[in-house]
Amino acid sequence: MLLAFDDVGPGPVVVLIHGFPLNRKMWDAQLTEVGSLYRIIAPDLRGAGETAVPDGVYTIDLLADDVIETLDALNLTDPVVLGGLSMGGYVALSLVARYPSRFRGLMLMNTRAVADSPAAAEGRESLARQVEQSGKPDGVVDAMIPKLFAPASYATHATIVEQIKAQAMQANPLGLANTLRGMATRPDRTGDLARISIPTLVLAGADDQIIPIAESKSMASMIPHGRLEIIPDAGHLAPLENKSASNAAILGFLRSLGD
Ligand code: MLT
Repeated sequence: MLLAFDDVGPGPVVVLIHGFPLNRKMWDAQLTEVGSLYRIIAPDLRGAGETAVPDGVYTIDLLADDVIETLDALNLTDPVVLGGLSMGGYVALSLVARYPSRFRGLMLMNTRAVADSPAAAEGRESLARQVEQSGKPDGVVDAMIPKLFAPASYATHATIVEQIKAQAMQANPLGLANTLRGMATRPDRTGDLARISIPTLVLAGADDQIIPIAESKSMASMIPHGRLEIIPDAGHLAPLENKSASNAAILGFLRSLGD
């Protein structure tokens, strides 16, 4: 399926994939600074933002295939740099595992390689039912917002918290349910990490309530050309909570690719 997307800036292409329950607007803090030097393509995944909301379970591989279809439609068949945050990172790991020749650099932000535990998958199914039955995104928003930011950010970045909450409240309930079910069935990609042959930045939030730092460290250590950057004063949405440190890490990594 063709995705809606932002296409901003000059230079080498950097594809940025958003997290859940968000859309491409979550990258606004990167568009100005990173987008002044690089061409950022930021899609709305199936079921999110301005992209259509078809029926069915949105597996991570299906979400990844949509990204390839959209890059093909843009004639972007030479290798590009790929970045994804959290769920966007699951999609990025699927992309580099299944379409390795399409990518030359990888940024895994606030994300993980392991699959859901049975309890996490059950939790997703009950949230999916809740949003389907209510026809409103509130259940997902109430479950996610308290975990998305560093504990301190709710006071220090209250405006960003409100903006992200508003973004999540605009999500289509069917899109949320279909995406939750897809995330619950995603495979464990830990075994793929050693096969990632391109330079990879693992970006972690020092106070991420969802992905412990130890897990990001371990993921980075399993990737042959992996490097870890821990962003201070940031949680699961590090690129928004500490925009300057995150943009510096992203730009430093992109420069290291020779761009
Ligand atoms: C995200 O930020 O994309 C979510 O935390 C992903 C997830 O629920 O696993």
